[in-house]
Amino acid sequence: MVNDKWKNEKLSKRFPHGFLWGSATSAYQVEGGNKNSDWEYWRVKAGKACDHYHRFEEDFTLAKSLNQNAHRFSIEWARIEPEKGEFNKKEVEHYRQVLQALQRRKIKPLVTLHHFTNPLWVAERGGWENPSTVGYFESYVRYIVTQLADLCNFWVTINEPWVYLSESYLYRRWPPEKCNPLAAFKVGKHMLRAHQGAYQLIHTIQPKAKVGIAYSLACVRTPININPLPWWERTCINWAKVQDFIGVNYYRSVHPLGAAGLPKNDIGWEIYPEGLYLILKDLKKFNLPIYITENGIADAKDEKRANFISDHLVSIWRALREGVDVRGYFYWSLLDNFEWARGFDPRFGLIEVDYKTMERIIRPSAKVYARIAKRNALD
Ligand code: FCB
Repeated sequence: MVNDKWKNEKLSKRFPHGFLWGSATSAYQVEGGNKNSDWEYWRVKAGKACDHYHRFEEDFTLAKSLNQNAHRFSIEWARIEPEKGEFNKKEVEHYRQVLQALQRRKIKPLVTLHHFTNPLWVAERGGWENPSTVGYFESYVRYIVTQLADLCNFWVTINEPWVYLSESYLYRRWPPEKCNPLAAFKVGKHMLRAHQGAYQLIHTIQPKAKVGIAYSLACVRTPININPLPWWERTCINWAKVQDFIGVNYYRSVHPLGAAGLPKNDIGWEIYPEGLYLILKDLKKFNLPIYITENGIADAKDEKRANFISDHLVSIWRALREGVDVRGYFYWSLLDNFEWARGFDPRFGLIEVDYKTMERIIRPSAKVYARIAKRNALD
């Protein structure tokens, strides 16, 4: 138990033994060449992205050199099932090689099965508004988890269902660019059902698997209060029903009623490390292990990233000390990558990518994070 592990580690800012230190990516944002995905037919597309599809060995060698012992990535459903019911063995083999590359480096994989993008054929059939997509997703999950079960048992079914439904079905910022609350509600309902179905399926294939959702959790601040876990986030966690852990994607605080003068990242997101502590304390009542599945900053000049990471790790450390069962931290992202509707401008990477040459350049802040990971303790 974390509390027992914790006892001897109170004095220095040490993390529990076995804590995961990693970084995260998602397939569409880094791989390149995802020609059967719905995003590739939208007005802002990833094209060759970071060419991680061909350079994963090199990228994992860099992650290893930065002392990372875990890595979160996603599988592109459109590669595995480019047409309904047609599974592509060659692409399965690709992801087997990716997992083996991590295994050789002793980097523990956390695999996301849906990270915003859909096969084009799913989008053409109405995407997540269509109740049949629940069954489509389950059949993909059954297939891919069976194929990879010997190499991974740690899964995120769906990344940020709330962000997906709001960006795509309320704010018109992502495909299919709708503003339709009823559609958004259906999408959310179907995604949660798909998660529940996938959860059961994965446990049938792998009884010891750990399966969860990565939730986007922001800290909402109004003039009168700070709300670390607003009702929609709480509802989503409650409605997921079955989960072995809670995945927390935390980036910022938001002010629905105006600005608060906090420092911001390159794309205007408020930097508020305290919010992570408040959220973790609030999540304690769910009594589940917690992984920080994403936390990061768009900072092209790399001026704020090192402090951003350390300050958020202090928040995690404080929560741990107060008995919250946090088991790992995945910085977003290992590499600069395709940031959805914003294209390639935001620079979230520990590693800079020169998109002309595809050269990788380690940023100074990555070394600060590497030192923390190595010591399993804050400086
Ligand atoms: C999260 C997404 C991730 C990335 C970061 C910056 O909401 O899960 O793909 O775009 O934001």
